[in-house]
Amino acid sequence: MAQSYYEFFCPVKMIAGHKALEHIPFELTAIGVSRPMIITDKGVRQVGLVDHVTNAFDGTDREVAAIFDDVPPDSSLKTVQAAAKAYRDQQCDAILAIGGGSVIDTAKGVNILVSEGGNDLTKYSGAHNLPKKLNPLFVVPTTAGTGSEATMVAVISDTEKETKLPFASYFLMPDAAILDPRMTLTLPPHITAMTAMDAMTHAVESYTCLSANPMSDAYASAAIRKISENLMDVMATPDNAQGRLELAQASTMAGAAFSNAMVGLVHSLGHALGAVCHLPHGLCMNLFLPYVLDYNKSVNGDKIADLLLPLAGADVYANTPQAQRADKAIAHLRQMRDELFERCNLPRTLKETGKVERSQIQQIAEKALDDGSIIYNPKEASLEDLIQVLEGAWE
Ligand SMILES: [Fe+2]
Repeated sequence: MAQSYYEFFCPVKMIAGHKALEHIPFELTAIGVSRPMIITDKGVRQVGLVDHVTNAFDGTDREVAAIFDDVPPDSSLKTVQAAAKAYRDQQCDAILAIGGGSVIDTAKGVNILVSEGGNDLTKYSGAHNLPKKLNPLFVVPTTAGTGSEATMVAVISDTEKETKLPFASYFLMPDAAILDPRMTLTLPPHITAMTAMDAMTHAVESYTCLSANPMSDAYASAAIRKISENLMDVMATPDNAQGRLELAQASTMAGAAFSNAMVGLVHSLGHALGAVCHLPHGLCMNLFLPYVLDYNKSVNGDKIADLLLPLAGADVYANTPQAQRADKAIAHLRQMRDELFERCNLPRTLKETGKVERSQIQQIAEKALDDGSIIYNPKEASLEDLIQVLEGAWE
């Protein structure tokens, strides 16, 4: 399955550590920014996370020129246009996104409009439709899951047409990702668990999918190891700042991996389930991960076997015969899910969610078959195959 040719691109400057936020003013000055605009949401602002960033400007000769905090849970064209207007009104010259996936995607959309001009975002939708580098974009993630701070993609909802517009361009990659544990210390346990399982799935799918390459493999396996070593400690001790920093780094590493190697069937099924039953993305990842690996095992069991080392450590890996490593890696992921269920009731099966009817499986399977991620899955899947995986994930 080795690639005869591949590219790997991640120009994002990583600024990580317990006082990483304090470096933001210096980093902005270094690239000539004088009027940054913060884009965030009301929840992030209410719990004081924006203050951590604005306080970092105290005593410097830089200040935040504007704060737009009106990003909804699902980013939309209207939100992007409103934020772009605020940016222009305040004559800003850079964006500082503070939030999770929706905030980061909104910021990427805003950056297209304020860099390219005009108010029509739709004409840039699709792959590689941006002509040049955009204005500076710094991202401060407040969850450790989406990895959007290290990806070249964004999804913005067109609420009038009830569709989601995908954007993919190297120019959508942020200039910097600032990883500071203060931004995730207060995440509730079930959000910590769901987002970590999203990052875990990004890493596992990028390692095992058709476009995996040696560079993405390195980022993916490092991310899996960090999540395996730190997630349960953070679940037990949520204010464990070092553990939080490790998970934040894992999420960014997994983002860099899947931005270059893509994902697979777990995401296809997860996107479909999310659309049909309105369940959070990270939960959908947790639901499908082991079942999809079981399905894929017959074609890429050797790659799945590799995962036992970052998942379970050197002793377990060395003591497990090669022929059993893939099954043991999958069993290890199941055990993680059992622990998360015990700690925060994170559902492991479709039935446990209480939000899915068995009769919806056909519809979910049909939708998943149309999802773009499926083309990178190592094993081809028919509608019947998808139904079988979904039935397996039922209870
Ligand atoms: Fe994901």
